[in-house]
Amino acid sequence: MRTLLKASCLLTLVGLSAGVMAADPAIGKKMAATQCRTCHGLDGIAQIPIAPHLAGESRIYLETQLKAFRSGKREHEMMSVIAKDLSDEDISNVSAWFESIQITATMPE
Ligand code: HEC
Repeated sequence: MRTLLKASCLLTLVGLSAGVMAADPAIGKKMAATQCRTCHGLDGIAQIPIAPHLAGESRIYLETQLKAFRSGKREHEMMSVIAKDLSDEDISNVSAWFESIQITATMPE
């Protein structure tokens, strides 16, 4: 039983890391350039005041939100339409792109 548990934990870990490795930020960048840029910017800095910045945001968070828009768990008139047609792979790639952008914050004095 213990060995079985260990084996399944290991498989889960392998599965998770395979999932992480499958994401391609370069493909995500192309997607962002055509599908996200108008509102979130290619560099993840929002172009319209009602859209959030995505630059440097964690992949885990981005993927969770995109899947929530896709499933209807989170609703928004623009994002629900956009997320509807995204595959799991699209979501991983585009999230990897926005996560890969380096940002710095400057606080006012
Ligand atoms: C027409 C404008 C528009 C386009 C195009 C667009 N978005 Fe959005 N996006 C928004 C707005 C507005 C919100 C804020 C939703 C809300 O208020 O709940 C948002 C929210 C999000 C969020 C949630 C962020 C957070 O902080 O919770 C993610 C992730 C996201 N968009 C990803 C994308 C991706 C990836 C694309 C391209 C495939 C994309 N969006 C294209 C307008 C857009």
